[in-house]
Amino acid sequence: MSVKSWSVKASSCAMRTSNIIRMIMGSGLQWNPEKSRIPLSIGDPTVFGNLKTHQEVVDATVDAVKSFKSNGYTDSSGSPTAREAIAERFSLPEVPLTAADIVITSGCSQALDIATNALCSEGENILLPRPGFPLYATQCDHAGIASKFYNLIPEKNWEVDLKHMDSLVDSKTRAILINNPSNPCGSVYSAEHLRDVLRIAEKHRLPVIADETYLDMVFPPKKFVPCASLGVKVPILSVASLAKLWLVPGWRVGWICIQDLVGGSCLDEVRDAITRLTTIIVGANTIVQGAIPRIMKIPAKWHYDEVTKVVEKHSRMFFDAFKKIDGIRMEMPEGAMYGMMEIEVDKFKDIENDLQFSQMLVKEESVHVLPGSAFLMPNFCRIVTSVPEDRIVEACERIAAFCKRHMK
Ligand SMILES: Cc1ncc(COP(=O)(O)O)c(C=O)c1O
Repeated sequence: MSVKSWSVKASSCAMRTSNIIRMIMGSGLQWNPEKSRIPLSIGDPTVFGNLKTHQEVVDATVDAVKSFKSNGYTDSSGSPTAREAIAERFSLPEVPLTAADIVITSGCSQALDIATNALCSEGENILLPRPGFPLYATQCDHAGIASKFYNLIPEKNWEVDLKHMDSLVDSKTRAILINNPSNPCGSVYSAEHLRDVLRIAEKHRLPVIADETYLDMVFPPKKFVPCASLGVKVPILSVASLAKLWLVPGWRVGWICIQDLVGGSCLDEVRDAITRLTTIIVGANTIVQGAIPRIMKIPAKWHYDEVTKVVEKHSRMFFDAFKKIDGIRMEMPEGAMYGMMEIEVDKFKDIENDLQFSQMLVKEESVHVLPGSAFLMPNFCRIVTSVPEDRIVEACERIAAFCKRHMK
């Protein structure tokens, strides 16, 4: 009797799923063993240990562990007290929120996944920014939702190309995703510009997913304007997390704020859909949820003094240093913890694109930047600006030497 051999097939939805940032980071980068590593590629503000979360975040979480009250399952949409605290923190005069409008998720990543899947079915499409955070398309590919990319304009501080966005909407479009402040661009939209974008959504009666995970990480005089504050009558699912402003990305807790600016029964079905989707993994980490009521009370001044101000100073260090380096260009970032550095490829004798720039820079100088192609923006590279000052000085010196060596 012949023995049938094993052939275990992976599912098609798994095999069409790939996250380009995770692939690049895990791809055995060739660092120069002679030089210390400076990763300007990891969007994690805790990597170097220079930025630490507030003591109250630590204490509240330790207390939650010690209380033995946060060890069990809670509602799949999140613990009622944590939801109430988030509702209070993010209520706007225009859109007051209650616990019923908040869904707690495993990081902003799951908030995005739930929001996208609550609004779009397989075979339909969503409008995403280009350049943009690659996870959006990863999640869509996995779910069989088509991504249609609207352009951001580098010469206009990465504002949305409104005409282009408008032209992309078709009968299968179900939502528009806006990311402000932006990863990878480090840009922050004005109220006027956001209003123009929201008017496109209103015109086509499309709900908006507002990825506002960087929230107040905005450098004055720029201000963070929540999409829901602008008075445009569009249903908004605003997503964010503790990751960046509270400096605990590994704790994996985020949320969706359901901001119903239309009213009536407009979002009833979507609310039900969101709740159903939370039951797939039965909610986020309960220990951190137990600490959230205290975490949400940390004053905005701490975030400004200990996070935003530092990142602004570091962004300026990069900006000032890059102005003196021939072959690259960068606008001063306006917020978040990123900058998009343009590679003037015509000036180099042996570098043809951003991928080559990034690979050669890490190999020769042990400085790693993410190629803009990962964000669908060739000939740019993204830098992370939250790294410590001494590393910035060293990185900029090495980038300067690298560019000089490869100039025509
Ligand atoms: C724009 C944006 N949205 C969402 C996320 C995911 O956040 P989280 O780590 O909370 O899942 C990130 C993380 O880098 C991000 O930059």
